[in-house]
Amino acid sequence: MFKINENYLKLPGSYLFSRIGKRVGAFQEAHPDRRVIRLGIGDVTQPIVPAILDSLHGAVDEMGSSESFHGYAPDLGYDFLRNAIVENDYRMRGCEISADEIFVSDGAKCDCSNIQEIFSQDNRIAVCDPVYPVYVDSNVMAGRAGEYNSVTETFSDVIYMPCTLENDFCPDLPKEAPDIIYLCYPNNPTGATLTRDQLQVWVDYANRVGAVIIYDAAYEAYISEEDVPHSIYECKGARTCAIELHSFSKNAGFTGMRLGYTVVPKDLKSGDVMLHSLWARRHGTKYNGAPYIIQRAGEAVYSHEGKAQLRDQVNYYMKNAKVIYEGLKDAGYTVTGGVNAPYIWMKTPDGLSSWEFFDKLLEEVSVVGTPGSGFGPSGEGYFRLTAFGSYENTVEAVERIKKM
Ligand SMILES: Cc1ncc(COP(=O)(O)O)c(C=O)c1O
Repeated sequence: MFKINENYLKLPGSYLFSRIGKRVGAFQEAHPDRRVIRLGIGDVTQPIVPAILDSLHGAVDEMGSSESFHGYAPDLGYDFLRNAIVENDYRMRGCEISADEIFVSDGAKCDCSNIQEIFSQDNRIAVCDPVYPVYVDSNVMAGRAGEYNSVTETFSDVIYMPCTLENDFCPDLPKEAPDIIYLCYPNNPTGATLTRDQLQVWVDYANRVGAVIIYDAAYEAYISEEDVPHSIYECKGARTCAIELHSFSKNAGFTGMRLGYTVVPKDLKSGDVMLHSLWARRHGTKYNGAPYIIQRAGEAVYSHEGKAQLRDQVNYYMKNAKVIYEGLKDAGYTVTGGVNAPYIWMKTPDGLSSWEFFDKLLEEVSVVGTPGSGFGPSGEGYFRLTAFGSYENTVEAVERIKKM
């Protein structure tokens, strides 16, 4: 008789966004005349830019002729893409990363949930609270998180690092040393960032206690301030303690095309075992490579035209971020984020819980956001709005909220 992986049963409730989807669906059914504006899920809305479309068309045509057809991609990614990544995301920023330390994948969600496989079962993980839920859930599935406490909404073996207004959404170093530390900056959901000096403290700490930092840089393209690092490898010593995750979803609108990459430096070792070898083995065994067509599209992200067009796209979203940030501030709300990230994180008014504010916003002005408590217990009393809507909808949503 087969048995299931019982760790799955420890996962609480349904996925945050399906719960939101159900509530919004019920609301729409009850009020078909109301136009709902969604600033909830962090999905992009702007189309693929022309430079990338051209590259896609060219690659599609190549697949139609036996001379230029491409079958299985190399496990770790095509050289043309890995070289473009190294040149643009690392060398130009003074970071020492080589092409064979880049592992191309179909996105950061898979990588950030799969990377835990190469670590021992008894490693302790530390996460920011609130947090992108995938880091915790993937460790729960793997049996590394311990038991769930439905009162505190935490797992017994996870070290939670609260990020609140009090510490400016920058976690304190944990009291007990973790083995694996997940950091995501610019942060989803709070929109907060660490300066280079603040991140250096984490790199020094990880090297001191022998921990690995899994650094999620999915929102790196939204950084506008000089002292905010685009990569953890801008910090000294990061090659011996950090893995970095990148996504093409938010910088280039690839949420539906799927492309990302992970950097595992060869200096990152446990004893004399390189994590690079383990991840290469895992990638080679369980993954058959991102499609050629999509990797060519990824290459165009780094072309001259691609960069210019994508800068405009990011600016479009960041204009929305400004509308939300300033509009809510004018209306008297306590608001953070939105400067180096497409997320605006606000304190719910009048002591309302995150879900109470969600309902109020939906019922009174038909605007959808994301309850902060869905990202962890320290997210209670906060609410996330995204800048990924259209400009017109964003302006209207903010006008509606101001009238509440
Ligand atoms: C912090 C963070 N990491 C990773 C991802 C997933 O990225 P991808 O679309 O590349 O899987 C997201 C998506 O919202 C995210 O917010």
